[in-house]
Amino acid sequence: MSKGTYYITTPIYYPSDKLHIGHAYCTVATDVLARYKRLCGYDVMFLTGTDEHGQKIEEKAKEAGVTPQEFVDRIVLGENGQGGVLGLWRLMNISNDRFIRTTDDYHVASIQRIFKKMYDNGDIYKGSYEGLYCTPCESFWTESQLVDGKCPDCGREVHHAEEEAYFFRLSKYAKPVRELLESGDFLEPASRVNEMIHNFIDPGLEDLCVSRTSFTWGVPVDFDPGHVVYVWVDALFNYLTALGYQNDKYDDVEKFWPAVHIVGKEIVRFHSIIWPAMLMSVGMPLPKKVYGHGWLLFGGGKMSKSKGNVVDPYQLSERYGVDALRFFLMREFPFGSDGSFTNEALISRINADLANDLGNLVSRTVAMVRKYFPEGRLITEREAGPEDDALIDMVKSLRGGYERQMDAYQTQQALVDVFRVISRANKYIDETMPWALAKDESKKARLATVMYNLLEAIRVTAILLTPFIPASCEKIFAQIGADAAAVTWDAAAAYGVLPADVQVHRGDTLFPRIDMEKELAALEAMNAPPAEPEPEPETVTIDEFAKVKLTVVKVKACENVKKSAKLLRFTLDDGSGTDRQILSGIAKWYKPEELVGRTLLACTNLPPRKMMGLESNGMLLSACENDEGDPRLIILEDTLPAGWTLC
Ligand code: MSP
Repeated sequence: MSKGTYYITTPIYYPSDKLHIGHAYCTVATDVLARYKRLCGYDVMFLTGTDEHGQKIEEKAKEAGVTPQEFVDRIVLGENGQGGVLGLWRLMNISNDRFIRTTDDYHVASIQRIFKKMYDNGDIYKGSYEGLYCTPCESFWTESQLVDGKCPDCGREVHHAEEEAYFFRLSKYAKPVRELLESGDFLEPASRVNEMIHNFIDPGLEDLCVSRTSFTWGVPVDFDPGHVVYVWVDALFNYLTALGYQNDKYDDVEKFWPAVHIVGKEIVRFHSIIWPAMLMSVGMPLPKKVYGHGWLLFGGGKMSKSKGNVVDPYQLSERYGVDALRFFLMREFPFGSDGSFTNEALISRINADLANDLGNLVSRTVAMVRKYFPEGRLITEREAGPEDDALIDMVKSLRGGYERQMDAYQTQQALVDVFRVISRANKYIDETMPWALAKDESKKARLATVMYNLLEAIRVTAILLTPFIPASCEKIFAQIGADAAAVTWDAAAAYGVLPADVQVHRGDTLFPRIDMEKELAALEAMNAPPAEPEPEPETVTIDEFAKVKLTVVKVKACENVKKSAKLLRFTLDDGSGTDRQILSGIAKWYKPEELVGRTLLACTNLPPRKMMGLESNGMLLSACENDEGDPRLIILEDTLPAGWTLC
């Protein structure tokens, strides 16, 4: 029986470039929430799509020498049925029920009706607009809103623009919008509420310019040729037109509206101020919730194509598996705040949580049941032991806590809770030592109990992981012999669901371990920017050269760095009385023992740098024929004392 309906949306993305990991982050998070609600028994509508109109797309298409429609089709549909926004969501196992494109005919016709409706009710009127315009963001700004004279959203140049335009009476709705923001939990996280009130409501809401005449790629205002509807009006109403509002394509408004909107923090203003005001104008119920999630940062800034720091979700999904990427995105970053994306964090997370904790628990348990019981089927005799209750209690209470976290959008914390039980189950293996029990025929019933408890812990944790890593959980269920009835939401709150004589099945490794060093190098090579033309040789002044401190050092000790094929770790006497540590990538060419006692030259005023978790304080000088040549250390006469510097 359905628990009711639930409507959840992502922002509709601009198809101005290939989507990056930031877009994937928001879509995966929304998918997790949609899958979670379905698991709980709700009749879910999950909508995503693309926001295809506007000046930026028009300009990009022009640059590419194609029509705007051809341009967006290529980005949304991919080429030859491959890639594209749709392909990415298929690849990433996104379970959206509907996909809207703002160029869809039914949407365009609906927007024209909606615009006319607001014009007829007096909320849209004609005036003229003068202001500072940011083309990429399609936004007008006032002087005081600019940050350092640039667009406050994206930091790019704005230009003066003036046009005859239609305006929406946003000012009229300032009071009810403030009340909405201040009441209950319409906008989350709560910190965003103050931001909206302080930055936008308190200074006074001005009427919003909602038409443009400076370009044509948009929904035409049908009663005034030459004007196209402002892209944000066109875009925001997607959430309603996709249900059939002002069109005959669908008939789901009654059933599913209002929605939960998941959006990035930079567009909270549109969703929590402008959108509710327009809904009030057309007389529709307000959204249930706007959740403004944080950004994935890359190298300290927001990822953006123009900054050239984008991470490609197609590439990472194909390399590590979709579930590994989905899991990383949801486990690594607290949903409401910003977080930094690094390849190291991705690989460590996959190795630690998925390969080690979850993957090992499943593979060890299944392998032991297969080894200790004929045909991998448990005997039905049982014998409880003192280690059992701690694990069983945790498993039994897991769903309650998980549900509270998920309902509060604390997806990261929900995963932490699930993995606490997974770690506990691994510890239970160490405590009960099944391999010792297996040696004693009289302990067979105890062994079966231990295995059963482990299988139950896996079953419950995997049910709750299904929204995050759906395909892997299916594989786990098959391995532990759990049928559909054993993996429902209700079954996640029950203990002892698997049959007493459950049979397990061997399966493939769920999450192969990744070799960190090799992968980092491979990722770096794949994403290296195309080689720049050789710059003209530059000269340095004598003062610049004098800044480089070159010191005579003696090698006191030298050893290979663990798990690194490249690095040698040197302990050096630099004459200061304190040992200096330098790491050098020359392990391929030198054996550590042959360097001990040698006198070398080092640059000793470089900032410290971490490699493989060790700090390197400087660089040993070597020479080579060219960039690819074999390096030779610059070895000095042993009569030179440590600490002498170049003069
Ligand atoms: N078209 C508008 C939205 C209209 S909704 C009615 C738009 N599109 S967008 O392509 O720029 O996508 C913005 C959304 O993508 C953000 O709100 C956020 O959800 C997601 N992200 C884009 N870059 C991101 C990061 N670097 N980090 C996290 N999410 C990011 O705005």
